[in-house]
Amino acid sequence: MQDIKNYVDNHKDRFVDELIQLLKIPSISADSRYKKDLLNTAEAVKQSLLDAGCELAEIHETPGHPVVYGEKIIDKDLPTVLVYGHYDVQPPDPLDLWESPPFDPVIKETASHPEGAIFARGACDDKGQMYMHVKALEYMTKNDQLPCNVKFMIEGEEEVGSEHLGWFIEKNKEKLQNDVILISDTGMIAKETPSITTGLRGLSYMEVEVTGPNRDLHSGLYGGAVANPINVLSKMIASLQDENNHITIPGFYDDVKEYSEAEREKMAEAPFDLEDYKKKLNIEEVQGEKGYSTLERASIRPTLDVNGIWGGYTGEGAKTVLPSKAFAKISMRLVSDQDWKKISELFTKHFESLAPKSVKVKVTTHHGGQAYVTPIDTLEYKAANDAYAEAFGKDPIPQHSGGSIPIVALFEKELKSKTILMGFGLDTDAIHSPNEHFGIWNYLKGIETIPLFYKHFTKLKQAEKK
Ligand code: BES
Ligand code: MN
Ligand code: MN
Repeated sequence: MQDIKNYVDNHKDRFVDELIQLLKIPSISADSRYKKDLLNTAEAVKQSLLDAGCELAEIHETPGHPVVYGEKIIDKDLPTVLVYGHYDVQPPDPLDLWESPPFDPVIKETASHPEGAIFARGACDDKGQMYMHVKALEYMTKNDQLPCNVKFMIEGEEEVGSEHLGWFIEKNKEKLQNDVILISDTGMIAKETPSITTGLRGLSYMEVEVTGPNRDLHSGLYGGAVANPINVLSKMIASLQDENNHITIPGFYDDVKEYSEAEREKMAEAPFDLEDYKKKLNIEEVQGEKGYSTLERASIRPTLDVNGIWGGYTGEGAKTVLPSKAFAKISMRLVSDQDWKKISELFTKHFESLAPKSVKVKVTTHHGGQAYVTPIDTLEYKAANDAYAEAFGKDPIPQHSGGSIPIVALFEKELKSKTILMGFGLDTDAIHSPNEHFGIWNYLKGIETIPLFYKHFTKLKQAEKK
């Protein structure tokens, strides 16, 4: 029997090579031209599960991109871990800001990753982190160290809102039955500061269209006399936040959970260096909701952001035009106990009410999901805590994240089990940005930590039964 550290050390080059192969397939879920690539990625994931020791692995078609399911059941009386991850990635745009092509992985050193990092779209979010679980399974099965049953559910639509995963779960509740859901699709505070994500924000993603005159007009002949939809849209958007950066949609804060002073003080103990944060982003000052710290603004408070805005002439040179239409994509990050459908309705009603008579507005909802918060006084958290303590030599810090994995709240509701979010990415890994990367140290440390979770979880669960 080899211990996990040795096993990782002996096989690390192959682990990196295999991930690189997976990263070469452009599994961009948002773009229908890549449908075949998503299928190919699903096939590759399925094969990797079989190679790692799953006795069953299958591809489930959905109305969208397929879900890969795999399992190894060793004993019905033992607990079952369900691993969730996603094999789809964000579009790589803007392409010209990549230092190497997004689907042609290269290894380079960075300040945070002196051991090297793999640069490619999806390296950290989430192919690299998902694949840690496949390699952890390989270690456990090849060395007779799998202490419980394991199931995998790897989807291809996370980056576009997991539209069909709810449907898949609903249809396969029996198959997906488990004792804990394990996910690596978040980050950690720092390499020397392991952390477990205990909160995720919800999301409500909207699109608005403002229409003025029935055609583009000459901005000299009509300008000043006919409403310009871009001007109007800008004013409408600007009014959505007041001078304290409070969101002005009536009822928006009604269900926002307020944390006690004691809870806020506890959260503020997490290491955070504001000067370093500003320096890394090359900004002079941060901004945000009055009365809250930067960490709080980016985790336990809701937000409203324009993600894209367009209309009129954006080509080379200058064209004098008063456009007929203007558009924007607007997202709101939500916290418990806000309901994303209710917030989408409140937004729609308010945005429509803001429009002057000179324009028409159309508001549509793209997708959304509920926020997620988990307590830390649970058996599941304790198992994760013990796994990190063993791998890192210190206890992890529980941390609320600002990101969203909308399906997590649904998992708990439908499958009635707790979720553990074991993330190994760093904030500097540039997920969703050009030059996304994943540290090789982080990748290998993840592979090393995961089997320890299985071990501690099974031990605690068996002890509870007695
Ligand atoms: N893995 C991320 C979410 C994440 C990243 C959570 C880092 C915490 C820390 C996930 O793939 C993601 O990008 N989610 C989307 C939401 C989705 C509906 C498009 C997001 O947060 O924007
Ligand atoms: Mn992800
Ligand atoms: Mn993502």
